[in-house]
Amino acid sequence: MIKELKRLQKEALTKLENLKSPSEIEKIRLEYLGRKGKLTNILKRLSYLPQEERPKIGRLANAIKDKFIDELDQRLKEFKDTSVEEKIDITLPGIPPNVGTKHLITKTIEEICEIFISLGFNVVEGPEIETEFYNFEALNIPLEHPSRDAFDTFYISKGKLLRSHTSPVQIRVMEKEKPPIAVVVPGKVYRPDAVDATHSFMFHQVEGLVIDKEVTFSDLKGTLSLFVERLFGKDIKVRFRPHFFPFTEPSADLDISCIICKGKGCRVCSNTGWLEVLGSGMVDPEVFKAVKYDYNKFSGFAFGVGVERIAMLKYGIDDIRLFFENDLRFLKQFPI
Ligand code: DAH
Repeated sequence: MIKELKRLQKEALTKLENLKSPSEIEKIRLEYLGRKGKLTNILKRLSYLPQEERPKIGRLANAIKDKFIDELDQRLKEFKDTSVEEKIDITLPGIPPNVGTKHLITKTIEEICEIFISLGFNVVEGPEIETEFYNFEALNIPLEHPSRDAFDTFYISKGKLLRSHTSPVQIRVMEKEKPPIAVVVPGKVYRPDAVDATHSFMFHQVEGLVIDKEVTFSDLKGTLSLFVERLFGKDIKVRFRPHFFPFTEPSADLDISCIICKGKGCRVCSNTGWLEVLGSGMVDPEVFKAVKYDYNKFSGFAFGVGVERIAMLKYGIDDIRLFFENDLRFLKQFPI
């Protein structure tokens, strides 16, 4: 019987060692210690042993049983220590992940584009590294033309530059597509300006272009008035002030009544009661020539909006540098 007990002990302990899951522990416990378990059976047979052998074998049997129970508990504990659910208190509140927000410039670009999308425009993009042809020539800004000074430019290498406005994308779109065209073009532009509260060497514009048969100046006025109304609200007044751009004729700057003083005159509108928000005009026949469009057949209007300026007016921001300093205390004030 001693031999049998020892064999059983060895067998049980080997099994315990090769356990793979806590549920197997219970199976082994039943196999040896259950009502009909292997160890239980031997213990039952103790009473049939001769009186003098009983205590010695009884002690051994009980010791084996105790050790086996100890071993079972030990294995169970090991499983608990390594199993993840037991270590994490799933009733505790979670740690909120840092989700971040869209940058206010991204948000403003989206807001502007959404309005035009709702009017049937498509959104397209163009390259930031441009050629002199697209940035100037095709837009009726020849080399010696004094207006070229107004678009002060970062030159990269011969004929290559960082675009100083989004207008070159007008040319790229017209070269690729046939009218009718209605696109808006958001993107970065670059100018070697000294940085101050209202100037940055990099900023954003949204360009617009509409080409079709019989597009008129009243289409321009209607579209842009609606745009401004959607962006700034119904009580804002607009006016079109004559201006000059080489790529449009006639051209007009669009002003809105000052959103700070409601037109009475204040520091923001330099006491004029008006704020300039975009440039616009009817596409110049010279531009149509550059893309080989028949200017007797088609007409169109174009506009360019400065995104930072819109965001500054809309959200009451008085320094353009705040957009680019990456200070979370500023950026977090404009959650998605
Ligand atoms: N490209 C001009 C600028 O950067 C803005 C502009 C004015 C765009 C009139 C246009 C336009 O498309 O028609 O200042």
